[in-house]
Amino acid sequence: MPSSFPWIKFSQWAEKFDSDILHFEVAGVNYIVLNSYDAAIDLLEKRSSIYSGRQHFTMLNDLVGWSGDLLLMPYGSEWKSHRKLFQQEFHPSKSSLYLPHEKKALGAFLNSLLDAPEEWSEHTQHLLGAIILGVAYGLHIQSKNDPDVKAAKRMTDVLNDALLPGEHLVDSFPILKYVPSWFPGASFKRKANSWKGTRNATITPPFMKVKKAMVNGTAEDCFTLRCLQRLEHPDFQHDNLSVEEEIIRNTAGTMFEGGSETGSSALLTFVLAMLCFPHAQREAQEELDEVIGKERLPDHEDEDPLPYVKALVYECFRWETVAPLTLPHRVDADDTYKGYFIPKHSIVIPNVWGILRDEKTYGPNAHLFEPKRWLLKGPGQKGWKLNPDMREPTSMCFGFGRRACPGKNMGLSLFWISVSCMLHSFNITPAIDRYGNPIEPKVEYVSGALNRPAPFQCTIKPRSEEHAALIRRAMNNDFE
Ligand code: HEM
Repeated sequence: MPSSFPWIKFSQWAEKFDSDILHFEVAGVNYIVLNSYDAAIDLLEKRSSIYSGRQHFTMLNDLVGWSGDLLLMPYGSEWKSHRKLFQQEFHPSKSSLYLPHEKKALGAFLNSLLDAPEEWSEHTQHLLGAIILGVAYGLHIQSKNDPDVKAAKRMTDVLNDALLPGEHLVDSFPILKYVPSWFPGASFKRKANSWKGTRNATITPPFMKVKKAMVNGTAEDCFTLRCLQRLEHPDFQHDNLSVEEEIIRNTAGTMFEGGSETGSSALLTFVLAMLCFPHAQREAQEELDEVIGKERLPDHEDEDPLPYVKALVYECFRWETVAPLTLPHRVDADDTYKGYFIPKHSIVIPNVWGILRDEKTYGPNAHLFEPKRWLLKGPGQKGWKLNPDMREPTSMCFGFGRRACPGKNMGLSLFWISVSCMLHSFNITPAIDRYGNPIEPKVEYVSGALNRPAPFQCTIKPRSEEHAALIRRAMNNDFE
């Protein structure tokens, strides 16, 4: 199992063996890597009744004691009850749950880019934290040093480290969990000890805040409130109230795990792409100037009239996709596919990064950031339109089948609006070194379950005084 950037190695193997399905075994565990969209759909979607399990992570599940997490639950009744709750509130028709938080946090984010542009990366993190804590618990996060945001960041750091296939030897050799902490090479045990209790310590305080606010009559509309209120409804039948409350506490906690690092990593990739491929920024700004002008900021109704911006968003999700291997699934019964036997409990890994970089689909420039690959301009036509023959990358990078991301609509909505507002009002250019020269940006990523750029610098400045003034007004939610 490659220990860093496994998706690159898997893509190389797929090419070497000329196969869209690979198998290897580590310590008795069978891993199946799927390197084509068709194979991923055939197994993870069409046969999702058996391909929706999750790997048991010895490090996280046994040594750290991580439990109650929808992301990691085996497929079954417990997973279903958590997932149902999530989907009730994140149904596409219910964007009212997140749009008000999105608007408010975005206004604050754009203003902080004006006030302290050098801290742009922290602002990005804060944007996601503020939205999710607002959606999940109705909290209004003002300060970057908010303890709930900090705790939640630590929780997602643990996951990002622990969920990368091959990261901890103990996941491949569970017997190692019996090795004492002082034993040479047992640093994973000390790490596991330091991670213990992280999840509970993060998700309990904000949940209790909502319960307390309910008693005081001060609770604000949010996921936790809506779910708790449903329990109080006379028509609601339950066997055990504390179990129901536990499901709500856990599901609200999973929102941060699922939505914050993913969203902020996608935004960092966007900024990096704008630095490395300035033509894309310029072309998107031309479209925004023509369609939106300087009198207002873009809004969701503008998505269709801004095909280039949509293509740029797709390209961010394709070029350096956020979850290169999604979250591996586990097959819960023996199966056969294209003549291959797939044994029960194999771990099935869709190599989305490799699929989205496939030169047969995206051409020899698949490694470059080029929004135009998603666009068409017909003869005599003035503007661009999205090419209907190109499969949206978002049909892959949010995962597959029954385990596909339930926060996809919210994730896409937030990414689109953040990207369009930043492009509309700011220029993103290389940072300047102390001799006054631009620092050449490098495409460097850190290996983890999520694909996150290595820290980098840049300059973010408003495009004009009018753009800056517009953003100041956005603080008061005046998007007109
Ligand atoms: C850019 C944003 C996002 C990306 C790229 C993303 C990507 C993913 C991926 C790849 C998976 C694994 C799917 C699979 O196993 O096949 C997933 C699962 C999940 N995501 Fe997201 N996600 C994003 C935003 C969000 C948001 C905003 C939320 C919640 C508010 C969320 C909540 C979840 C949850 C709860 C799961 C676990 C589902 C399960 O195991 O049943 N995600 N996401």
